[in-house]
Amino acid sequence: MRNPIARAIFLAALMLCLGALFLQTDLDVREAIKKTAASAKEVIVAQSQRIGNPEAGWGTRVDISLQQDEERRELAMAQATILNSSIPMTCDYDMEKLRRWRQQYNLQETFEYMKRYIQVFRENIPRKSITNVDENFLAQDFKLVNINEQYPAEMCPPPLIAPVSKSRFPSTVNASDFMFGVSTTYKRFTDPRTSPVNEWSYWLTDGYGHSNGGKLVLLLLDASDEDLENAYNKLANLGIDVDVYRSDPNQIMAVRYLALVPKLYNHPERSRKKWLVICDDDTFFPSFHALSDRLRQYDYTHPMYIGTLSEDVNNIQRHGSQAFGGAGVFLSVPMAALVTEKFESCKTDDKILEANSGWGPQGDILLRKCIYENSEIKLTLLPDLWQLDLMGDPSGFYESGIQPLSLHHYRGGIWHVAHPWHYTKVAYVCGEDCTFQRFRTPDNFIIANGFSVAQYPQGIDFDLGQFEGTFHAAPEDKGWNLDFAMGPQRPSLHRTGRKISWDLQEATRNDDGSVSQVYVRKGDDWRWVRPDGSPMREKDGIVELVWLPDER
Ligand SMILES: *[C@@H]1O[C@H](CO)[C@@H](O)[C@H](O)[C@H]1NC(C)=O
Ligand SMILES: *[C@@H]1O[C@H](CO)[C@@H](O)[C@H](O)[C@H]1NC(C)=O
Repeated sequence: MRNPIARAIFLAALMLCLGALFLQTDLDVREAIKKTAASAKEVIVAQSQRIGNPEAGWGTRVDISLQQDEERRELAMAQATILNSSIPMTCDYDMEKLRRWRQQYNLQETFEYMKRYIQVFRENIPRKSITNVDENFLAQDFKLVNINEQYPAEMCPPPLIAPVSKSRFPSTVNASDFMFGVSTTYKRFTDPRTSPVNEWSYWLTDGYGHSNGGKLVLLLLDASDEDLENAYNKLANLGIDVDVYRSDPNQIMAVRYLALVPKLYNHPERSRKKWLVICDDDTFFPSFHALSDRLRQYDYTHPMYIGTLSEDVNNIQRHGSQAFGGAGVFLSVPMAALVTEKFESCKTDDKILEANSGWGPQGDILLRKCIYENSEIKLTLLPDLWQLDLMGDPSGFYESGIQPLSLHHYRGGIWHVAHPWHYTKVAYVCGEDCTFQRFRTPDNFIIANGFSVAQYPQGIDFDLGQFEGTFHAAPEDKGWNLDFAMGPQRPSLHRTGRKISWDLQEATRNDDGSVSQVYVRKGDDWRWVRPDGSPMREKDGIVELVWLPDER
């Protein structure tokens, strides 16, 4: 449709169809839609019939001003095509599921629930930190559900439209240039609270049970022969290309860490690799395409030591200016050759003493000293890797709209708690760029995709380009420890009554290609109170989002 008037009319018709869904007065039509609309496609068919009815009296409400807004028009054009989805939308009350959530998240007997479909549009656009969406997030108010009752199925509101870039999917990652070394204990490997198995299945496989070419060399401490075999089988069954070894119990932790370098370098598959990567058992790579694109900019035929500093100046002052290993340390093969050659002299008692920052000998320091004292090579900073030496509520980081190349320290203890394996599932439906991408609706909600759905009841009047300071540095926190890495953070909205959020606890890849996300909020969450301490919403609540793939 090249003619702008025709396009405008077309767009207006579309807007009206969406509007018709919310029309309270025309119950017959709503009933008809309810009966027939099993899928997004059918919703649109039903709506078109409504528009086509001459008695409806909509015919002349064409808003020509929209003609000027090219982006909006393109979106509307695309809407028409995309709503031709083959995936049925169901907005029923699956009490079995709701009871399971209640159990799992310790919810009240009566809690708030809403479900919304989101239709992904993969467009020729760059990844945006924040995308304005035309429709409200709340098509209707939250439903209060009592776990002991039954509720009739309802009509789904039309899906929200989320334009995203045409970024690549996790299934097409080719990680065969990389070999990763991780040293951990068998106990941490098997404990459900610390096991990295699910996370590795994300960034070391295609998501369908096959290796993505990345090699994992796993060194396990305190493991019997049987334990090593168990670990191998568990990982291999998921499609992870792994070799499992026992770590040398006679070495201290810092040396076991440095020893990963010769272990990788002497591995028979090293000749096929460009990057040997040392990481922790809680290092996570959420967007591997972006990561390998970035690494491709460096010359792997030269000695290269690539990583990132801690975000906390205190930690740099204490431990030194070096790659902080939890964010991932990328060594080119010639760099690893040098460390391997000098390994014995880099782990003498003197060196171990020198690597003691006051917090015991540090593997990161041993590696830095080994490189700096034996070559002219210095660290190449890759600041999109994140060590995440953050404490407290990490929301301000994950809600910032950035595309981190690595994540770390998300297993609680003194650090933060996060669920990156669940966060990144949405990448299988909309591409890896859309993880943590933000969508803002006119009713003041922001979906930080995969992490949270936040409502700002008093409006969004702050700088979305800055991190919200919901987290803090470890003691001693001077108030500006993190500023060199993150910029000064805008004030936290905790306990102001200006923000309330539902945080992602689980996500599921459905058989039909869609992805479901479960965002949970507790009524007694200490963060979501007004300045006088009264809770913003006393009831617990669940937001369920289902992302529909672009089938165009
Ligand atoms: C809608 O889907 C059907 C098949 O389900 C296809 O034949 C048709 O071309 C699609 N229409 C558009 C506009 O994409
Ligand atoms: C993956 O990359 C390697 C080396 O970069 C290349 O040899 C191989 O053919 C690639 N595999 C696929 C499936 O594209």
